[in-house]
Amino acid sequence: PVTHAIAVLHPTEGNDAFGFVHFYDDDEGVRVVAEVQGLAPGPHGFHVHEFGDCSAPDGTSAGGHFNPESTRHGAPTDAVRHVGDLGNLSADDAGSAQFQWTAPLLAFHGPHSILGRGVIVHAGADDFTSQPSGAAGPRGACGVIGIALPDEG
Ligand code: CU
Ligand code: ZN
Repeated sequence: PVTHAIAVLHPTEGNDAFGFVHFYDDDEGVRVVAEVQGLAPGPHGFHVHEFGDCSAPDGTSAGGHFNPESTRHGAPTDAVRHVGDLGNLSADDAGSAQFQWTAPLLAFHGPHSILGRGVIVHAGADDFTSQPSGAAGPRGACGVIGIALPDEG
């Protein structure tokens, strides 16, 4: 079984954000650990998107938020939200963001499996209210979730 996955984030065209997102199997879901640099200070929408395709210069090839239950967009703490809704990264004045949260709806197998899907960091904040994606603005970085070495981390 897969216990560890990783997405390496690369900047979309005209942006500077880069970093990585680790995903670890956990009793309560999947623990998400991210470190991103090159961001504008402040909040940035952060989601698992449907497709692991970062080929478009603006990242739109990753599709919409990963939403296998066909629900509304929301905050990670909302009962009704997309499976891929992870909230916001918060970048400091140097443009660095660190994030850690155990996402109860993410999985490495079954209909909620994130393997092969995309991760997007947006230019703006996810407002948790606007549909279908929180009005977080353009996509600043994109990565594909792949299987990682199980004993790392
Ligand atoms: Cu997104
Ligand atoms: Zn969403």
